[in-house]
Amino acid sequence: MPPVTDDRRRAFDDLRREVEGCARCVLAETRTRAVFGEGDPDAELMFVGEAPGYHEDQQGRPFVGAAGKLLDELLASIGLGREQVFIANVLKSRPPNNRDPRPEEIAACQPYLWQQIELIEPLVICTLGNFATKLLSGDQAGITRVHGRPRAAVIAGRDLYLYPIFHPAAALYTPAMLATLKEDMARLPELLAHTRGEAPGAPQRDVAPPGED
Ligand code: URA
Repeated sequence: MPPVTDDRRRAFDDLRREVEGCARCVLAETRTRAVFGEGDPDAELMFVGEAPGYHEDQQGRPFVGAAGKLLDELLASIGLGREQVFIANVLKSRPPNNRDPRPEEIAACQPYLWQQIELIEPLVICTLGNFATKLLSGDQAGITRVHGRPRAAVIAGRDLYLYPIFHPAAALYTPAMLATLKEDMARLPELLAHTRGEAPGAPQRDVAPPGED
């Protein structure tokens, strides 16, 4: 990956400021702080969750609650820290009482995520749970069906792989899901090596046929 240029860094900072002052949807009225995302603006690997929760809204940082602690542990299990990846969400503002994101909120926020992807140029985007997976794949197939299966995609004009995995918040209280999440995470280094051209052949598993959850 080429290093971040001053222009790219400036564009990233401008985008951050825009998100922090955003009033494109009603969530601006109830949020405490917008959550732009954090990590390496030059990361090969990006994680996209659903939306900020209570702690993220208070601190203006992504994944700082219980789900974030699990995400940190999962990252550590493959030798990474959060400063080596970029962590973002579909929505940059917290929905009241952590309700599901609404279609019009996702549509209003989508350009920010696409601009982040354009600037970061990740090789792999790990989508956490249904909302991120469906938005980025453009496919309604649910996470239970598609988790752990890399899928080639073009997003914001970039060729990359999507790698859907269960959302850490969902896995926190479901041991079987947590075990699957850990297994899927363990295959991520191989996918990254493949995308860097270090590992020959196609990624281990292909995408499932379209279907429901
Ligand atoms: N869940 C998410 O999807 N994103 C966060 O930032 C925190 C919890």
